[in-house]
Amino acid sequence: MKVLGIESSCDETGIAVYDTQSGAIWQRLYSQIEKHREYGGVVPELASRDHVVKAAPMLLDILHEIGGVEALDAIAYTRGPGLIGALMVGANLARGLAFATDKPLLGVHHMEGHLLAPMLDGAGPQLPFVALLVSGGHTMLVEVRELGRYRILGESLDDAVGEAFDKTAKLLGLPYPGGPELAALADSVTASTFKFPRPMTNRPGLDFSFSGLKTAALTIVRQHQPLDHGLRAEIAHAFQDAVVETLRIKCRRALEASACLNLVIAGGVGANRRLREVLRAEVEALGGRAYFPALEYCTDNGAMIAYAGALRLLQGQCDEPGADVLARWSLETLPAIEA
Ligand code: KG4
Ligand code: ZN
Repeated sequence: MKVLGIESSCDETGIAVYDTQSGAIWQRLYSQIEKHREYGGVVPELASRDHVVKAAPMLLDILHEIGGVEALDAIAYTRGPGLIGALMVGANLARGLAFATDKPLLGVHHMEGHLLAPMLDGAGPQLPFVALLVSGGHTMLVEVRELGRYRILGESLDDAVGEAFDKTAKLLGLPYPGGPELAALADSVTASTFKFPRPMTNRPGLDFSFSGLKTAALTIVRQHQPLDHGLRAEIAHAFQDAVVETLRIKCRRALEASACLNLVIAGGVGANRRLREVLRAEVEALGGRAYFPALEYCTDNGAMIAYAGALRLLQGQCDEPGADVLARWSLETLPAIEA
């Protein structure tokens, strides 16, 4: 079964086709980052407009490559959560195509896409597992005992990890989205004289809070004006250390609480080198295994939507008539994917 995946929940237009038989993936990805950079964050209206311009030509291009629209068996798109206007662009393109070709259509949960992305190369984890989802909009620990059924063990009460990276990067004068650049700056030194708190680690529970780290960074930045390159690198290093250490402590706690050995790490921040290294070592020390998507499938993309959609479409799941896009949508409300 060849399934089309359309992702347009934020500032990435992703179009991909996933073949459930061969595992082959065809994909196109366009990032709008340059358009939003001068505003220091994603401007929803600009995002919707740019998806309108880019999505259809990318779709035509990929259809040409797979041998025309007849080669498709089903269509999946990101139904939510995300920016409403941006989601509507992808959803309407998907609906139009499904209507014109009479093919099954399914709206996919964006975070399920991220969560299942490590399985795209066919070497995913055994059930049960715990997933750490860390992106620009979400930070959560999810228990997965059955494919498609998700139990949220903990989540951020304020900023998402990616958001904390981006805001702290901005304080250090790095361009938006500063996560990867802050990480590179942090990795350019091996130690720091600064120490940031590890929020909410000294009390039980699996929720997170990252807004305090940004405030801690602001205080240090104010105390050390003007900042030279060395100081900025030390602040970045201490910030990254605090984030990684906090996530390590909570992941360990989540694995122990749910008696799981396998940990999936997904979402944009899952591309962070230090986080990958520390979590891999932690999970292996517990006798388990850590699974990461390939780097190209960590950040938003169409392939993860095609894949998650394919698992459900193969079971005959598809959209109810009149299904609408959803700005907010709990992962816990999804139906199981029968094995
Ligand atoms: O999953 P994603 O592409 O989009 C959302 O659904 O939010 O995640 C984007 C987030 C941004 O905040 C970005 O700064 C962060 O992931 N990010 C990183 C790294 N690469 C991307 N944060 C830290 N280290 C990285 N290497
Ligand atoms: Zn995402």
